[in-house]
Amino acid sequence: MSRILITGGLGYIGSHISIELIKQNFDVYIIDNLSNSSETVANNIHTITGKKINFFNEDLRNYDFLNLFFKKNKIDAVIHCAGLKAVNESIYQPLKYYNNNLDGTLKLLNAMKFNNIKKIIFSSSATVYDEDELMPVSENSKIGFGKNPYARSKIFIEKILSDLFKCDPSWEIIILRYFNPAGNHPSCLIGEDPIDIPNNLMPLIARSAFNLGTLTIFGNDYNTPDGTAMRDYIHVSDLANGHYKSLQMLLNKNSFFSIFNLGLGYGSTVIDVIKTYQKINKINIDYKFGDRRDGDIGICYADSSNAKKILNWIPEYNLEDICLHSYGWMKNKLKNS
Ligand code: WQD
Repeated sequence: MSRILITGGLGYIGSHISIELIKQNFDVYIIDNLSNSSETVANNIHTITGKKINFFNEDLRNYDFLNLFFKKNKIDAVIHCAGLKAVNESIYQPLKYYNNNLDGTLKLLNAMKFNNIKKIIFSSSATVYDEDELMPVSENSKIGFGKNPYARSKIFIEKILSDLFKCDPSWEIIILRYFNPAGNHPSCLIGEDPIDIPNNLMPLIARSAFNLGTLTIFGNDYNTPDGTAMRDYIHVSDLANGHYKSLQMLLNKNSFFSIFNLGLGYGSTVIDVIKTYQKINKINIDYKFGDRRDGDIGICYADSSNAKKILNWIPEYNLEDICLHSYGWMKNKLKNS
């Protein structure tokens, strides 16, 4: 049974990857500093999978811990999800983002190298693409300079991994560029649960569905059918499966560096999402229009044909599933709070 470390494995994306890998019979280890998650997620993963996970409440910047961890646990590959990801916050706290995301990654890579572990999947983002690129963006589309420190931290880490492979091709490296992860496990026992007020659309729609706030649509003058911004919302369980497919490639192929987009391949506007949310859950969502949000672009969706062709990755869920699961998760969360 291969042993896989998931950094940030109790976070929104990481917890769904943990569930998928346990289901696929991997031995999952998690390092998470709980800066944007909680240990209850570990209990929920146990409830869903029936398996206890090897969880370590630690920060990747603790090199001595990392080194000891890799010495003691014969890890076969690492899936690196740990990182701060609130776009707005990164603008007001750049040092916090560069320190956490870059220093944490560098300490991780050094500890892996020192222990001769050279297989890694990195959680990257569509925000690395140049905003002027034509849609859909493919892996060969131009990389921008990043619209904010969060996006720039992803660009820097991708460059670090590329330089590392160029100087030492004995590494196996896969970069996965997520578009807009949304929704949650169909059990609705885990989901997007940021510690502070969410930035992302889906949890904010969920909050407004339960009258916990009125949704503001940021701009309705974009060049889209209804004027609201368009994104490629990918179900987080499909994203998790994309990591499983990537892991299969990572464990069975030597010396390579690959990049894949993980998105559905088409865009939905904010109004599309709201209408779908209302229809599938038979509820009403109150919203108002506001100004465009700084840093937003109008349209972003993926060409993910490479992931489908090379990884044999076929997304299973659509926007209706995302909206149904998101509502179910919020309902459970409020019932148990
Ligand atoms: C989606 C759309 C908003 C909130 C960011 C990161 C990306 C990834 C996902 C980490 C936009 C609109 C939102 C609201 C709104 N992060 N919106 N009202 O900005 O596309 O991507 O989060 O993995 O890397 O860049 O996602 O969910 O914030 O916004 O109208 O209250 O919803 O303007 O068009 P975004 P988002």
